[in-house]
Amino acid sequence: MTDVTLQRPDGELDSLQESYPVRVIERRDVAEDTISLALKRIDGLDFPAWDPGAHIDVVLGTDGNGEALSRQYSLWGDPGNRSVWRIAILKDPKSRGGSVKVHETLAEGVRLTVKGPRNHFPLEPAGEYVFFAGGIGITPILPMVRAVAAKGQPWRLYFLARNRARLALLDEIALLPHGRVVLHCDEEAGLIDLPSITGELGPDADVYACGPGPLLDALENLSALGPWTFHCERFAAPASMPGSDERPFDVVMFKSGRTVHVPVGVSCLKVLRDNGADVDWSCGEGVCGTCETEVVEGTPDHRDAVLTPQERGANETMMPCVSRSKSARIILNI
Ligand code: FES
Repeated sequence: MTDVTLQRPDGELDSLQESYPVRVIERRDVAEDTISLALKRIDGLDFPAWDPGAHIDVVLGTDGNGEALSRQYSLWGDPGNRSVWRIAILKDPKSRGGSVKVHETLAEGVRLTVKGPRNHFPLEPAGEYVFFAGGIGITPILPMVRAVAAKGQPWRLYFLARNRARLALLDEIALLPHGRVVLHCDEEAGLIDLPSITGELGPDADVYACGPGPLLDALENLSALGPWTFHCERFAAPASMPGSDERPFDVVMFKSGRTVHVPVGVSCLKVLRDNGADVDWSCGEGVCGTCETEVVEGTPDHRDAVLTPQERGANETMMPCVSRSKSARIILNI
C-alpha cells in the first residue's frame, strides 16, 4: 500500500486505507440469503471513526495474480460504537463470487482482514430527507436514517424489495424513532410509484438511495425533472457513460515522467500497475473509490459510479480502473 493522500476537489483529504486484522464475533441471518457479520479487531483496539454512508473492504484472499481479492460492504451499525463494525451481505450467485465466498467461509471465530473506512456517500445538510433502500441497499441508508432521526430532522424511508423475505434488518428498522417507514414489496403491490412520491418534493428535500441499478436510474431521471437533490450509491458502475466510446490514449506518470500507452480493451489501471505505478485499488469496477487518482492535465472519460456529476465536471480526479481519457494524452499525479 502507498501512503499517498489525495486532495479531493471539495478540499477533503482522502487517506488511502489502513488494514485491520479482525475476527467475526457474530453471524446472524437478517433476511433470505442475507447475513450480518459483526467484526472486532484482533488487537482489541477501536476502529477508526466513520460516518453514515461509509463502506469497508473485506479481503477475501488473493486472485490468480497474487493481488488481494476484496469486496466492498457498507457499515450499518452504530458509528458511536467503535469496537465493532457491522456489515450485511446478500448471497448473489450471479455476482463475481465474493458474496458466495463470504456466506460459505465467514463463520463466527474466523479471522480476516478489512480495510477502510471510505465514504463516497456522505450525508449533506438538507431541510428534509427522503430515503430509498432497495434490498441490501438498506445497509448504508440505515445509519443515515438514524443520524437524521437523532437530530430531529424530518425524514421518510421507502424500503423496497421483491418480497418480505428480502427485507433485511427489519428488527433494526422497527427501532427507528419518529419519521415514517414505508415497506414496499413488488410481489404484493407492484412497482412503487416513484413519480408521485418525488413529484411532491420541494427544493429543501434531499433524496438518498441505494439499491439495484434500475431503481437508481429511475430516481436519477426523475431528479432532472424536480427541484430536489439526488444522492445515490451504486453496486456497479454503468456499463458505459454517455458519449464514452473507447479509444486508445497515452498516460504520463507525472512523478516519474514516464509515458505509457493504454490500448482499447485494457484498463488504464492495469497498464499503470504493469508499468510499476503504485496505485492502490480494490473493486476494479469503479464503485469503491480506492484507485482515485489526481488528474494534472487532460480530460478524463469518467465511467465510475463514485464521483458526483460536479466532481466529474471538475475533472480533478478519476478512477483509472474503469475510466479512460477523452484527450489523446492525460497526465496523472502518480
Ligand atoms: S478500484 Fe474501486 S473504483 Fe477503482
